[in-house]
Amino acid sequence: MFSLNYCSYRNYLLLILLCSIFIYYNSLRQTKNFDVTTEISNSNRIIYAVRTGSRFYQKRLVYLLQTWIPLVNKDTFFITDKLLPNISQDHTILTEKACGSDAHSMSNLCCKTAHDFLVFHHYISEYNWFCHFDDDQYVNVNKLNEYLSTLDSNKPYYIGRTSWPNALQRSKEPFPSPFWFATLGAGVCLSKQTIHLLKPYTQTTSEFVDGCIRENYHDDIYLGFLLSAYLNITLTKTDRFHSHLEKSFYSNKQTFLRTFTNQITFGFRTPDRYPYFLPQFYRSHLDPYRMRTLHCLLYTQINECQTKIHQHLFNSTK
Ligand SMILES: *[C@@H]1O[C@H](CO)[C@@H](O)[C@H](O)[C@H]1NC(C)=O
Ligand SMILES: *[C@@H]1O[C@H](CO)[C@@H](O)[C@H](O)[C@H]1NC(C)=O
Repeated sequence: MFSLNYCSYRNYLLLILLCSIFIYYNSLRQTKNFDVTTEISNSNRIIYAVRTGSRFYQKRLVYLLQTWIPLVNKDTFFITDKLLPNISQDHTILTEKACGSDAHSMSNLCCKTAHDFLVFHHYISEYNWFCHFDDDQYVNVNKLNEYLSTLDSNKPYYIGRTSWPNALQRSKEPFPSPFWFATLGAGVCLSKQTIHLLKPYTQTTSEFVDGCIRENYHDDIYLGFLLSAYLNITLTKTDRFHSHLEKSFYSNKQTFLRTFTNQITFGFRTPDRYPYFLPQFYRSHLDPYRMRTLHCLLYTQINECQTKIHQHLFNSTK
């Protein structure tokens, strides 16, 4: 018998969560052949640019390919130095020739980000929202859809999370004023109108890269600068986007469990920037960041996830 005294409050919370999920998925199971991809396709047209690189394929990208990317496959494009296994060439934007081999340098990152815009301009007529994500991010695509559908993509939007408590100070001409920028590592979304307005500054790779170098700003800071200084578009801050830089996101288990279904992006980094307190639905070497477990808790209707939840419930409460 399961006894309350026996278990800590944390485990009790987790059990309630798992039971609710179990009840929820059982109710969904009655909808035969429920398909999560059809749920997402009647969306407000979001394109996903994922920045990655061949050396991060096994370390990071594989987990995205096992979780959220299949839900938005046809709308996802990869900005990468080299071709990647299992990713079609027409969804790959190669950067090695233009940007040099991968490095975490300012000009390499700016050059890769400049390629986001080449993709965005190319597909401007097919999408309403243009989002950048890093390869260490989980995107809760349903919530992203839901959130963006509350906003008008014909207005200029710049959406993301700021990692600093204050605006960036600036006294230099042009535009000697403080401005806010969003950390690219938490994900950034731009409306169609913003992409349209950015065209003069992002039409070629060198326009963007030269701007970064001229201002001596990293890619995300330079983007914030362009939008503030040249276009007068201010950042719409959201605290539902998260990067691996955020220290507190995973440090309070109760808060995380209460709110995670509503978060839009998640960042991951070992040793402690991941939800290490979630149950292990997969062996740890197959799911080192618990990203696959998280995905299953968010998308309980996926068949594989139903199996995992079922297995977990009946093994842990026996
Ligand atoms: C590519 O996909 C196949 C099947 O979908 C899989 O067996 C294989 O391991 C994948 N390759 C890599 C390098 O991930
Ligand atoms: C910038 O936008 C704000 C409203 O968002 C407006 O009040 C202001 O006049 C604009 N400034 C310029 C220089 O266009």
